[in-house]
Amino acid sequence: MAKIAICGYGTVGSGVAEVITENADNIARNAAEEVEIKYILDTREFPGDPFEKYIVHDFSIIEKDPEVSIVIETIGGTKIAYEFTKRALLAGKSVVTSNKELVATKGHELIAIAKKNNLNYLFEASVGGGIPIIRPITQCLAANKIDEVYGILNGTTNYILTEMIKNNASFDDALHQAQSNGYAELDPTADIEGLDAARKICILSDLCFGKHVNPADVRAEGIRGVTSADVEYAKRLNCKIKLLGRALRTGHDTATAYVAPHLVSKSSLLSNVDGVMNGIVVHGNALGNTMFYGAGAGKRPTASAVVADVIDAVKHVKARKYLDWDDAPAGYFTDSAYVASRWYVRAATSLQQIGWAFDKVNFVTYPGAAADEYAFATDVYDENTVRKLTSGMTVRSMFRILD
Ligand code: HSE
Repeated sequence: MAKIAICGYGTVGSGVAEVITENADNIARNAAEEVEIKYILDTREFPGDPFEKYIVHDFSIIEKDPEVSIVIETIGGTKIAYEFTKRALLAGKSVVTSNKELVATKGHELIAIAKKNNLNYLFEASVGGGIPIIRPITQCLAANKIDEVYGILNGTTNYILTEMIKNNASFDDALHQAQSNGYAELDPTADIEGLDAARKICILSDLCFGKHVNPADVRAEGIRGVTSADVEYAKRLNCKIKLLGRALRTGHDTATAYVAPHLVSKSSLLSNVDGVMNGIVVHGNALGNTMFYGAGAGKRPTASAVVADVIDAVKHVKARKYLDWDDAPAGYFTDSAYVASRWYVRAATSLQQIGWAFDKVNFVTYPGAAADEYAFATDVYDENTVRKLTSGMTVRSMFRILD
C-alpha cells in the first residue's frame, strides 16, 4: 500500500483527493498497489469536509512519517512549495506537482535532487491541465528532433476570449466566470498578463529542446489589449484571436520563446480550441505536426494528470524515469522580436502613411468600425521591422498572424 500526502487543499488538491478516492480500484490496478491518502496539509480548517480527518497543519508530520512515500505539492508559488518539495525529496519521498511556476524556475534543481536520491519529481499536470503532453513529448516523440512547439496554454484567457468572441461577454464578467469555475490562478494577473502561459512554454521548451529557458527572459504579452474591435476585424480576416505560447529553434544551438495574442486562421485546428480547452502543436522532424487537445485547467482534469503521475511514481520505484534538461549556454536564448510573421495592425493613421510604410497590405473593415482608424494585415516581417514601419502611426493593436 502506497501512502500519500497532499500539500495544499485548494482546487487541484481537493480534486486529487476526490479522484484518488473515487477511482481507488482503477488506480490500484494500474499502480499494482493500493494508494491511500494519509495526510492533507493546509493552513485552513475544513469543518464538515469529507477529507477533514486527514488535515494537518505542520509539514514536519509528513516529512518525518516513513510510511508516506509520495508527496503531492498543489500549493503553488515558489516559496513554501519549493521548501516543502526539497524537504520531501531529502526525506526520501517522491514529489508530484501541478506547480508550473516552480517547475519552470527550479525544476532542473529539484529533478537533480530527486535523481540523486533515486526518487521521482513528476509534473505532467504543470502544462495543459489534464492533457497528456509531458510524457508524450519525452517518450512517444523521443525519436524526433523537435523544432517548434506552440499552442493555447492557458484555460482562463482562452475562456475569456471565447466568451468575448462567441457571447459578447465583457472581459470582467468572463474573468469572474473563469474564477468561479476554478480555472484562474489565485492571482489571475498571472493568467491575464500571459505569465502562466510563459511558465508553461518554458517547460515545453526545456523538454523539447533540452536546455533551460528562464521565464524571466520570455516576453509575455497578455490579453488586456484585445478589444471587441480586434475581434471584429479578425473575423473579417477569417481568423480568431487566441493567446499563444510559442517556442522554436532559431539556429543550430539557439532557441526563443514568447507569449502573445495571435490572429489564428480559421483553417488552423487551434482556432477551434475554445473555452477552457488547451491545444498544443508539436512539430517533430520525423512526425511533422501533432496536436494535443483537452481541458487545460480545472479541478478534476488537473487532478487526473496529477494522479497519473502518482501511479507512475508508485510503479517505477525500482526503475525511475527522469525527465530532465541541461543548463543553457550563454547566447542560447535569442530575442523573439526576430521571429518573422505576418501582422495584423489597427492604427489611427492615413492611407498615405500606410502606403509609404508598406508595399502591400490587406485592409479589413466591418459595419460600425471606428472612422478614425484602419486595420490591415501585412506581409511577413520581424517585430522590430514592423514596429519601425508603423512608428509614424498611432498603433492601437498589433498582433502576429498564425496562418
Ligand atoms: N490558471 C491556469 C489556466 C490553470 O487557466 O490555464 C491551469 O494551469
